[in-house]
Amino acid sequence: MKQSGRFITLEGPEGAGKTTQLARVQEYLQAAGLSVVVTREPGGTALGESLRERLLSPQQPAVTADAELLLMFAARAEHLATVIRPALARGDWVVCDRFTDASYAYQGGGRGIAEDRIAALEDWVQAELRPDCVFLLDLPVEQGRLRALQRGVAPDRFEREGRNFFERVRQAYLQRAYRDPQRYRIIAADHPPEVVGRRIASVLFERMTAWR
Ligand code: TMP
Repeated sequence: MKQSGRFITLEGPEGAGKTTQLARVQEYLQAAGLSVVVTREPGGTALGESLRERLLSPQQPAVTADAELLLMFAARAEHLATVIRPALARGDWVVCDRFTDASYAYQGGGRGIAEDRIAALEDWVQAELRPDCVFLLDLPVEQGRLRALQRGVAPDRFEREGRNFFERVRQAYLQRAYRDPQRYRIIAADHPPEVVGRRIASVLFERMTAWR
């Protein structure tokens, strides 16, 4: 019998190696014969990609923290309705590069918006849906910033934030992970990509066995 689809997200600061690991998760699941949809936030739909451009581009005027949060959730509502929920209903596995934990980390921790406001939007937009497994790629702030700089790409609006902002982002992510160790897995990302990839694969194996 086909196993029902699962919703897996990858989170972490800039420079944690999310993109590399996302490709590995996809390969791992596909090698297990699963049908996989890979997507990202903000993004994943035409509306989401245009909001992404609006929110990340340093050429665009800044928006207030509340507007930023609401736009993240507007993009998410569209993404859930047109991509994520239909994929899960088909029995596909969805692997998403960031999701609501990023709102708690960046708009909550980083920008200082109260957690209960974010939780209200989460309940509204997602109803009962939460990721089945969240991989939090964690590494010290300075290491992440250095790695992001070494990519040689112009920093986006978030990457231009200062060290304190990213310390708050990191702490917010870690707090969420500590509260729910079954659903969240903290993966130390200050190791070579192969080592990080092997750790993720072993969690995937363990989770897939438990879900069967
Ligand atoms: P990235 O996907 O290339 O890391 O860039 C996305 C940026 O958007 C990243 O800096 C985190 C930020 N973000 C939020 O601030 N809130 C959110 O809800 C999401 C999904 C992303």
